[in-house]
Amino acid sequence: MSEKNENSWFSDLLLAWYADNGRQLPWRETKDPYKIWISEVVLQQTRVEQGLPYYLRFVERFPTVVDLAEASEDEVLKHWQGLGYYSRARNLHAAAKQISTDRQGNIPDTYEGLRAMKGVGDYTAADIAALAYGLPHAAIDGNGYRVLSRVFGIDTPIDSTRGKKEFAQLGAELVSQSKPGEFNQGLMDLGATVCTPKNPQCESCPLTDKCHAQQHNKWQELPVKEKKTKVHDRFFYYFHITLPDGRILVKQRKDKDIWIGLFDYPMVESQSALEQAELFSSKEFKQLKKRMKGLTVTGEGKSLKHQLSHQTLHTTLYYCQAEKAELKDNEQAVEVDEFNQLAIPRLIELLGGKK
Ligand code: ADE
Ligand code: SF4
Repeated sequence: MSEKNENSWFSDLLLAWYADNGRQLPWRETKDPYKIWISEVVLQQTRVEQGLPYYLRFVERFPTVVDLAEASEDEVLKHWQGLGYYSRARNLHAAAKQISTDRQGNIPDTYEGLRAMKGVGDYTAADIAALAYGLPHAAIDGNGYRVLSRVFGIDTPIDSTRGKKEFAQLGAELVSQSKPGEFNQGLMDLGATVCTPKNPQCESCPLTDKCHAQQHNKWQELPVKEKKTKVHDRFFYYFHITLPDGRILVKQRKDKDIWIGLFDYPMVESQSALEQAELFSSKEFKQLKKRMKGLTVTGEGKSLKHQLSHQTLHTTLYYCQAEKAELKDNEQAVEVDEFNQLAIPRLIELLGGKK
């Protein structure tokens, strides 16, 4: 059988385009599976421009899987601070420890081995396999789904089991056997820069003559998604409490919720917006007041709406003073300098704390 299949035009056009138009990025200049892995985890849900400085700092501080394994979780989270999705950093750290102890620091070199790593899904495993080891696996991210659905006119929902299967099959047929890494990176770049969600640049697209969506003028309808992700609203009232010696109270998030392991302030949470009077007469606030002797609210700080992937946080900061605090296990009183060393969510940075 000839190596060329009936769809080889796709990878030929894509690879030619990528050779001239691909972005030069540090993880494309290396075959080190560790660095490629880090880049993928950083870039899940994060744009390249935003993720690049994090990637560079991360691999400078943790240049090998063993360096990462030996670091404390707090330090790893601190280097992740601002990227969000902290469970990704924790999975990365856990996987590094496992690779360090069970495999002498050698990252698996098969798709299946990679896929078995904590936090590594189909896409990331395929991407590392192709880039680091030249194995012919198609890594299809959101950009890839968009390009493929438009070029081939596929309206199966990309977030359905059926759709995932169909696109995976198509990817496997299309992926270049000789240059799978370039194929995957090219697909991402084409989706990120040319075949964009709004106003795709069809006139400068290498696939334009073959593209179903272009020919039928229906790029707006593709790709199809089954469910709109439901966003839910949460209302956070934070209390920035200062003690007479100038220390402030922080709490480490422990519950099964967002930001596990990071620090924020004591708070009252509600499912709906609260008037000030409602807030200060709520059961939660009274409980806080009981533990904070002489608690007085001295001022209102910023109010911010903060968007996470599936949650909208409506937040307000109140400045308070207390004479004496009875702390819970996950609370601490810290100096401002110490506070600046802690891993805090982006929201807390934005709300500020110094007054
Ligand atoms: N987004 C996710 N992975 C990426 C990669 N390897 N290069 C550019 N953008 C990406
Ligand atoms: Fe996307 Fe247009 Fe290219 Fe088709 S021709 S793949 S719609 S940019």
